[in-house]
Amino acid sequence: EDVRLWGGRFADGPAEALEKLSASVHFDWRLAPYDIAGSRAHARVLHAAGLLTADELRQMIDGLDALEQDVASGAFQGTLADEDVHTALERGLLERLGKDLGGKLRAGRSRNDQVATLFRMYLRDHARVLGGLLADLQGALVGLAEAHPDVAMPGRTHLQHAQPVLFAHHVLAHAQALARDAERLRQWDARTAVSPYGSGALAGSSLGLDPEAVAADLGFEGGSAANSIDGTASRDFVAEFAFVTAMIGVDVSKIAEEVIIWNTKEFSFVTLHDAFSTGSSIMPQKKNPDIAELARGKSGRLIGNLTGLMATLKALPLAYNRDLQEDKEPVFDSLDQLELLLPAFTGMMATLTVHGDRMAELAPAGFSLATDVAEWLVKRGVPFRVAHEVAGACVKECESAGIELDELTDEQFAALSPHLTPEVREVLNVPGALAARDGKGGTAPSAVAVQLADFRTDLDRQ
Ligand code: ARG
Repeated sequence: EDVRLWGGRFADGPAEALEKLSASVHFDWRLAPYDIAGSRAHARVLHAAGLLTADELRQMIDGLDALEQDVASGAFQGTLADEDVHTALERGLLERLGKDLGGKLRAGRSRNDQVATLFRMYLRDHARVLGGLLADLQGALVGLAEAHPDVAMPGRTHLQHAQPVLFAHHVLAHAQALARDAERLRQWDARTAVSPYGSGALAGSSLGLDPEAVAADLGFEGGSAANSIDGTASRDFVAEFAFVTAMIGVDVSKIAEEVIIWNTKEFSFVTLHDAFSTGSSIMPQKKNPDIAELARGKSGRLIGNLTGLMATLKALPLAYNRDLQEDKEPVFDSLDQLELLLPAFTGMMATLTVHGDRMAELAPAGFSLATDVAEWLVKRGVPFRVAHEVAGACVKECESAGIELDELTDEQFAALSPHLTPEVREVLNVPGALAARDGKGGTAPSAVAVQLADFRTDLDRQ
């Protein structure tokens, strides 16, 4: 029997090549539970409009429940000939309820409003999963900060030693970025909580169905679509979701890059746990940061998914076009990749061994306290322009002598500038430099402790 939903005006079935091209059931099957939930809500609204008797509604719901179980157990599966998940499930319902009753459910809806609704439901559920995984990673970073509250490290700009910072401060910078990604997901969810059900193919339904009732039934806090054309044709919610996944990928890749560098012999800032690193098939000594490298690599893939999706959406005329079927695979892939990556990445970060002594030893190197010399002079009334020059001259002197700033003698300081009295040594040490930056957001242990406590509170509240 012909399973197509549109057989009436066609003399023949589709060519095999078309059937193969057209099929999406192999990737949209994951929407099946949401399609069935949508069908239940639709049955109830048909009943409310007087288009299904109470008895028919009960049978319909029973049939959908049975179908749901068979989908969950794998007893019922979509096939290529079904084209998509919606058609497959309609076939399943007809098989269970017969044509007379089963055939009533399609009234007043279209696959266009169906798929737009289900996709929102699916992504909203997974946004919550993703939010949980992001919280886990933030938790691991906060844990690192809490475990090493006093460790100083070289803070860098242009990857060059810039000023000493606390390791906890640095790690929390990454956590702050991830917290914004989590916030983006919550804001996206609030915008996406609008149901297109009732939009029909594009124009709405003439059957007196109440879209607001369906929206409430399906948990769309924002109600139903204000415009049926927009409801069926808009996919900015997909693009925005793909952006957030890509942004997460990019933010994680930045941590990944640092872990890779920190894990080199030259840096020796961290050691990876055996369970979260890999070996080499030929070099017995190797212990590789594969998780971090996969994170770096996958971020490119996530950006590609976003870019491809934007290209699909560009210049599409209203309303639904079949191009839109291309909206699912990229964002499913982005989700799948993050759901694989984040637990591994979190495990790697949570089990990282931090070599605080090594970090602290390098913190003052590379004349990273030169700014402190300049600011010390400023506090004594020297204009910053002059102070910058004097501190620069100190660096120059050290560089030619092959020494660090604190190795300059009192005489050398005095020769460089009459303002450079021996008291300048007060700021030529890392703890002093850190403690001095005690304004909000600064790297002083007191300021970082406040940041850490605030972050912990926000994270626990989510
Ligand atoms: N499978 C389609 C999609 O993902 C939905 C079906 C709409 N098809 C149609 N010919 N109107 O967008």
